This record gives sequence, structure tokens and C-alpha cells, in this order.
Amino acid sequence: MAGRILVAFATRYGSTQEVAGAVAGTLREHGLEVDLEPARDVRRLDGYDGVVLGAPLMMHHLHKDAARFLLRHREALLRLPVAVFALGPVHEPRDEAEWQDSRDQLDQELAQWAWLEPAALEVLGGKFDPTLLRFPLNKLAGSAPASDIRDWEAIRTWAGRLPAVLTQP
Ligand SMILES: Cc1cc2nc3c(=O)[nH]c(=O)nc-3n(C[C@H](O)[C@H](O)[C@H](O)COP(=O)(O)O)c2cc1C
Repeated sequence: MAGRILVAFATRYGSTQEVAGAVAGTLREHGLEVDLEPARDVRRLDGYDGVVLGAPLMMHHLHKDAARFLLRHREALLRLPVAVFALGPVHEPRDEAEWQDSRDQLDQELAQWAWLEPAALEVLGGKFDPTLLRFPLNKLAGSAPASDIRDWEAIRTWAGRLPAVLTQP
């Protein structure tokens, strides 16, 4: 399958970057040419056939680098298929209400970008490491336990569906 894809990611603590790397790896296994870049470093979208944008939900919002990416590249993104994933839920065992909250937050965030019609949209489990938090977030987080509920198989399964929606046959 031919096609050149950009996987752009925002991250604060690194877990979304690792997921973006897995998404990029899966797309490469499907024969696509893939660039993996921090969203804030992307200058132009010329030459790409599709874009994947990944970001964590933080304090009910998508990471600001994702919002800035959408703002800066609106014109180009209007002409490209765009897949979006957001990391959010971190609780173990799986808490359906938390997943629904994250999904609602993502939908609400994307509602700001009415022109954006994602070709694929997914909430994925995230990672929480309280030792990385600085004041005041460490106080707000209280004694919440560390967790990493990233499901690499689910991530690869989702990414495996993207070639069909990101590239023309
Ligand atoms: C301070 C803080 C606030 C967060 N706020 C939200 C939130 O509002 N909604 C949500 O779904 N997840 C929230 N999360 C979970 C993150 O999305 C999750 O930890 C994610 O894996 C972080 O990604 P990163 O490592 O790429 O920065 C929050 C996490 C932290 C540490």
C-alpha cells in the first residue's frame, strides 16, 4: 500500500509519545511511509496523504500542542484524512464511567473544531505516574496510585484499521 503519513503527537509525561510510536510502527508494517513528530515541531503538511494526531487529555482539555496543531494547519488538514486518538483513562480495574468521561471530554474539545471530521477517533488508556507531578498537581492528585493501562494490542488493532481510512485505494 502506498502513502505517506504523519503521526504527530503531543505529550506531557511521555506516554502518548510511546503510543504514537506504536501507531507509527503498525502503519509501517502495513507498508506506509511514516514520519513521527512532536505536533509542535511540524511546520508543513505538504506531501502527506494522511495525518494521525495523538494527545493526552489533561484537566478536561486536549494537550495544548494538539490544539495549536489544529489551529496552525487547518487549511492543509481540511484536505487530508485525519485520525485522532486521545489518552485519558488511567484507573485499574477498568472504570466505564471514567472512559465515558474521557470520551465526552474529547468530543467536547473536538466540537471547537467543527471543520474537522476525523476519519477515525479513539480514546485509549493512559499512564499515570504521581512521582512525575510537580506542585500543585501533586497535591491535587493526592494519593492516587501509579498505573499504566495502555493496551498495546488494542493500540495496534486500532492502528491496523487506519491504512484503509487514511489512504486512497
Ligand atoms: C495532571 C493530570 C491531569 C489529567 N487530566 C485528565 C483529564 O482531564 N481527563 C482524562 O481523561 N485524563 C486525564 N489525565 C490522564 C492523562 O491523560 C494520562 O495520564 C496520559 O497518559 C498522560 O499522557 P502523557 O504521558 O503523554 O503526558 C490526567 C493526568 C494528569 C497527570
